[in-house]
Amino acid sequence: MSIYGDYIKSVIRTVPDWPNPGVNFRDITPLLQNSAAFRKLIDSFVHRYQEMDIDAVAAIDARGFIVGAPLAYELGCSFVPVRKKGKLPFRTISETYTLEYGEAEVELHSDAFQSGDRILIVDDLIATGGTMLAAAKLISRSGGQVVETATIVDLPDLGGSQRIREAKYSVFAVCS
Ligand code: PRP
Ligand code: ADE
Repeated sequence: MSIYGDYIKSVIRTVPDWPNPGVNFRDITPLLQNSAAFRKLIDSFVHRYQEMDIDAVAAIDARGFIVGAPLAYELGCSFVPVRKKGKLPFRTISETYTLEYGEAEVELHSDAFQSGDRILIVDDLIATGGTMLAAAKLISRSGGQVVETATIVDLPDLGGSQRIREAKYSVFAVCS
């Protein structure tokens, strides 16, 4: 957890029963509307990663892009989109993962980074961890070195961050 974790948590809204009954949706739009909070959020990530020789920030479609682009800009490294199936135009490699109902797939351009590059993966939230783990496996399969998986919010009760750690990837969450 970051030093701003409690503050960042306080500007994230929980919307009950959305998009389905029983889901407490963590809505980051109030955080994005608050320029001071958004700056603290990006600064938290910059502070953690600025000395870690990151070659590329790989951000997960779509909410991960909101964090990943300014972070890559500040770190002075490349930005790599990890996209949902069918959105990338060039040669891709993909990883399928399981959702609560059915399956989903994330894709990466085959020339997105060099083998051995140090990659930071970012997203807004880890729930079951399926999306982040698929992205991490995809990057590992492509020859990238996953330095850490980072998120604004972790929902530990859903077991995702534990699952990612059990797969031997490091996890950082600003708040939980
Ligand atoms: C949300 C969130 C994460 C993922 C977390 O994305 O942004 O990527 O779900 O869930 P998991 O840990 O159970 O995999 P969503 O697929 O809703 O897409 P969006 O960013 O386009 O809204
Ligand atoms: N993605 C998966 N579960 C979520 C939740 N509870 N809030 C926001 N995004 C999510």
